Amino acid sequence: MSKIPNPQELLSQQTRTSIIEPAFHQIQTPAYVFDLKLLEDNLNYLKLLAESLQIKIIFAQKSYSFYSTYPLISSYLRGSTSSGLHEALLAKEEFSGEIHVYSAAYKKDEIEELLEFVDFIYFNSFEQWQKYKSLISAVENNGRKIEVGLRINPGYSETEHDIYNPAGKFSRLGITAEAFHQGVNSYGLDGISGLHFHALCQENSASLAKVLNSFEEKFGSYLKQMQWFNFGGGHHLTRADYNVGQLTDLIQDFRNRYPTQTIYLEPGEAISLDSGFLVSEVLDIVENEIEIAILDTSATCHMPDVIEMPYTPRVFLLDEAYVQGDYYLEAEIISNEQLLDKNKNIYRLGGPTCLAGDIIGNYSFPRKLRRGDRLVFCDMALYAHVKTNTFNGMPLPDLVVLAKDGNHKLKRKSSYFDFKNRLGPYDVIT
Ligand SMILES: Cc1ncc(COP(=O)(O)O)c(C=O)c1O
Repeated sequence: MSKIPNPQELLSQQTRTSIIEPAFHQIQTPAYVFDLKLLEDNLNYLKLLAESLQIKIIFAQKSYSFYSTYPLISSYLRGSTSSGLHEALLAKEEFSGEIHVYSAAYKKDEIEELLEFVDFIYFNSFEQWQKYKSLISAVENNGRKIEVGLRINPGYSETEHDIYNPAGKFSRLGITAEAFHQGVNSYGLDGISGLHFHALCQENSASLAKVLNSFEEKFGSYLKQMQWFNFGGGHHLTRADYNVGQLTDLIQDFRNRYPTQTIYLEPGEAISLDSGFLVSEVLDIVENEIEIAILDTSATCHMPDVIEMPYTPRVFLLDEAYVQGDYYLEAEIISNEQLLDKNKNIYRLGGPTCLAGDIIGNYSFPRKLRRGDRLVFCDMALYAHVKTNTFNGMPLPDLVVLAKDGNHKLKRKSSYFDFKNRLGPYDVIT
């Protein structure tokens, strides 16, 4: 294997935090801005990584489904993975390469449609596999090979937030070692060509090392008979401090024991990490012991992970000085204890919805905020735009691309019909 640089050596970190782009002043808000240069930086790196490690990296669509950019993404990766029929259909229509699909449970009509085009299908239990085995055989008898895998629960995870911990207590995601042994006793493994696990969330290689240990310890006796393994997503491969040296050692080590098996990684976040923004405007500023800026974007509708995860995104204030020069101001994220400090231009940022908890975070700004100010939220090209909703009739953010030459282009304008069409009846009930 050739030496792979660390992400920080290859990715243009300078650009990744720099948001000095005219687009941020010119576009209508709210808008997600997808920066193609930053995206392609990540993709270049991932391609190099996959080639050097001789693994296959596929794209977990659940984190990012802005499909205008799928041709670009698929030119760097080996394929995609989907969470069910609809994502798989999107992959079929817009993405090239292998199509993988995993769902915790499939309905019969979904399986029938999926089997027409997917290359890999993963089951979450022996029972689901058995239920649909004859349908798969029928497809294969017609000359189309489908790789069938089982998702297992490796029995170890370091993911802190329970909501994002697929291997946590009582998890329904993946077959436990005990259920697996029973399943093998009842049904065997004839027809299963690979095993899949997903047990990481925004993690470095050290977590993978422990998950792999547990995987081998609990499932080791079945591994030699497999043709491929999928180590899931959650690898923060494009993060500046990702330890690619340890990943290289882990893969090499694993390959020494299982030399003929193909290794897949299916990251989502790492594909578009730090490559997108959500631009918004301060609509009003109200006071209730503290100052609260009400924006035209909403935590609950446009960045629900801020509430679910929870986390507080980085924010830049676009100062008007920027228009003449090159100025943008990063706000400091502050704790609840500092909230009452009157000397630090502290604001709580919230959305215009009726939800009391529609709060993005508390920030200290380098100057007083004004109505009409523009704020840019960072790292918004993952999960945020696929999890949007129109609660309260909130408009969805527009979708804008920032091309490599610096020009921006509106790709999708949001409208009242995004809201109405999702909710409406086929006909009026009288
Ligand atoms: C099965 C599976 N694969 C891949 C991913 C992608 O993970 P990430 O976006 O954290 O890399 C997820 C995320 O939930 C997942 O559930």
